[in-house]
Amino acid sequence: MVEKTVTLTDKSTGKSVELPVKDGVLGPSAVDITTLYAQTGMFTFDPGFVSTASCNSAITFIDGDEGILLYRGYPIEQLAEKASFLEVAYLLLYGDLPDQAQLDNFKGLISRHTMINETLKTFFDGFRYDAHPMAIMVGVVGSLSAFYHDSLDIHNPRHREISAHRLIAKMPTIAAACFKHNVGEPFMYPRNDLGYCGNFLHMLFATPCEDYEPDPLAEKALNLLFILHADHEQNASTSTVRLAGSSGANPFACVASGIASLWGPAHGGANEAVLAMLEEIGDVSNIDKYIAKAKDKDDAFRLMGFGHRVYKNYDPRAKIIRQVCHQVLDHLRSTSRHPMFELALRLEEIALQDEYFVERKLYPNVDFYSGIIYRALGIPTNMFTVMFAIARTAGWVSHWMEMIADPQHRISRPRQLYIGEKRRDFVPLNER
Ligand code: ACO
Repeated sequence: MVEKTVTLTDKSTGKSVELPVKDGVLGPSAVDITTLYAQTGMFTFDPGFVSTASCNSAITFIDGDEGILLYRGYPIEQLAEKASFLEVAYLLLYGDLPDQAQLDNFKGLISRHTMINETLKTFFDGFRYDAHPMAIMVGVVGSLSAFYHDSLDIHNPRHREISAHRLIAKMPTIAAACFKHNVGEPFMYPRNDLGYCGNFLHMLFATPCEDYEPDPLAEKALNLLFILHADHEQNASTSTVRLAGSSGANPFACVASGIASLWGPAHGGANEAVLAMLEEIGDVSNIDKYIAKAKDKDDAFRLMGFGHRVYKNYDPRAKIIRQVCHQVLDHLRSTSRHPMFELALRLEEIALQDEYFVERKLYPNVDFYSGIIYRALGIPTNMFTVMFAIARTAGWVSHWMEMIADPQHRISRPRQLYIGEKRRDFVPLNER
């Protein structure tokens, strides 16, 4: 087979370098520039990684122009319709769908790791009652490494696997404890007779005073949202986890850094920001004013839940969520919440016809709808990004495992184009 290459020519010197081109299984090929600096003394410049593939990965594939999302080759639409979140987590981690025995075993393993160490509970008391749950999550998840010194050898595949299981299992428990801390209710122990999502709803909404059974539709909606949010290839938080992990940091520290990155409003914080925006818009009659603000370059306002770095078509997750949004709201008959959904739909309709949004291919993304569903399920707005973090943990640990197992992995260390002062001499304080 002929090796594909591209040739770069420096017109000022006439010198050329030949660089190999790597083909993936799907998607664009990539020019391998690893020898470029050695050959030419030049770096490439790509802030925001717009044209840069940072690694090989066999986990998730996205075609942003066609609106395609595959986990390990399976279309997101099929997984959303037919799978459970733990089945998807297994798929992401191990590469194939589990058979019944493998799934039962995996469910058993995850449910046996759902409790958190009793002393960890006191950690929550250090936070003010109104601390943002994402702030608590970053701290508490980072602190988990202090509890598992016996299994933190990242070069041991079994240790890596146990850490991945612990993170997937404990995330809902920690998330629910953040909420309980906010509302001043006792933490609820996990119930292993319930599924992953049912148990989370129990830890969130049950109290020791009365029996609680999760609403099957709420469970179903949560299962779907968790599947849709489980992975999205090299997004900002996953890349953060990989970057942190590339130095050999432990997986709890890496996932804590991923949570911190996810919190930003340009990423996972967008679902919270969408609700804040809808509340600010308040009424359909104000939509035009806010669309104009979003288009005004002198105004920092952006239409939250619109646009995506990769999707320049309808986000396939948004398509799926949009339907479920209707089902959940109809089931809950929460008429008081319908106006917000109506407002969201009207905003979507107007934005999709507006030349500014059409030209820039700004479609609603997954977070445009997820917040509305969470709101309908009674989950407070400041917990929305936490919900995202629970689901994305499956992706984070899968990418971390893939990276550590890759014999070619090295510490990630980008270079820069220096634009600061040239060398200059120190001036004593009394002469400045
Ligand atoms: N509202 C108004 N204008 C927008 C929006 C928006 N939501 N998003 C992009 N634009 C405009 C930009 O101003 C820019 O216009 P210009 O070409 O005239 O300068 C153009 O569209 C391209 O936008 P960029 O910012 O260059 O796109 P980028 O890929 O860097 O950003 C991002 C993508 C961060 C998602 C952006 O669209 C955004 O801020 N959206 C709102 C926040 C959001 O919903 N985030 C969730 C992302 S999905 C997720 O994390 C699950």
